[in-house]
Amino acid sequence: MKVLITAGPTWEKIDAVRFLGNRSSGKLGLALAGAALARHHDLTLLLGPAVDSASLDSAGPPRVCRFESTADLQKLLEREFPEHDLLIMAAAVADYRPDRVVEGKRPRQGGGEWVLRLEPTGDVVAGIARRKRRDQRIVAFALEEPENLTQRAAQKLQRKQVDAIVANPLATMGSDEVEAYWLTADGEQASSGKLSKTAFSNWLFEQIDRLWRTPNT
Ligand code: CTP
Repeated sequence: MKVLITAGPTWEKIDAVRFLGNRSSGKLGLALAGAALARHHDLTLLLGPAVDSASLDSAGPPRVCRFESTADLQKLLEREFPEHDLLIMAAAVADYRPDRVVEGKRPRQGGGEWVLRLEPTGDVVAGIARRKRRDQRIVAFALEEPENLTQRAAQKLQRKQVDAIVANPLATMGSDEVEAYWLTADGEQASSGKLSKTAFSNWLFEQIDRLWRTPNT
């Protein structure tokens, strides 16, 4: 299977030296990439800034493309997704970016206030899902407060029109363990229990194998 995985944060430029980012380490995406390689899938990895893919080298390095901003990621996905069977959208995409990038480095100018105005970035995976062929599948992630985790994730699955969603509590970000739920557009639900990111990745590919055996309507 030709698998496309996105991992890590996006960075949105403020000026030549500053950016808006998030706490994603990309570790889960890398663990998923390791599981895909162990299953001999043909893998393309889209990796965010400051994510080190060296841990994958022993498994035979996959094709890696780097993105920095949400706009970079969107462009790469538009180019790569048509060539793949499955997209696993594990990247932690920024929802907002500064409405303009300041040229050069903004000086401190005596330490006064600096007000940034942010504009929405748009939902990347929802845009890709609108162009999905019937032979392709998309798995997205939902990072949620622990209350009503699965209900909120189910709404996100509907809104983004993806085939399945992995619902994670916020605590997953930066942690070495995952406790997540798998929800599909057909209404299937499964719970992973508390697992290391490596064990979780294998569990997730078992769910994906099941998804693949279900005819796409
Ligand atoms: N995502 C995306 N584009 C965005 C934000 C998120 O493609 N601008 C993707 C993420 O990669 C993930 C899924 O959408 O696979 C859910 O991300 P999440 O941050 O949980 O949800 P949001 O869409 O940002 O919604 P909210 O902020 O309301 O929770």
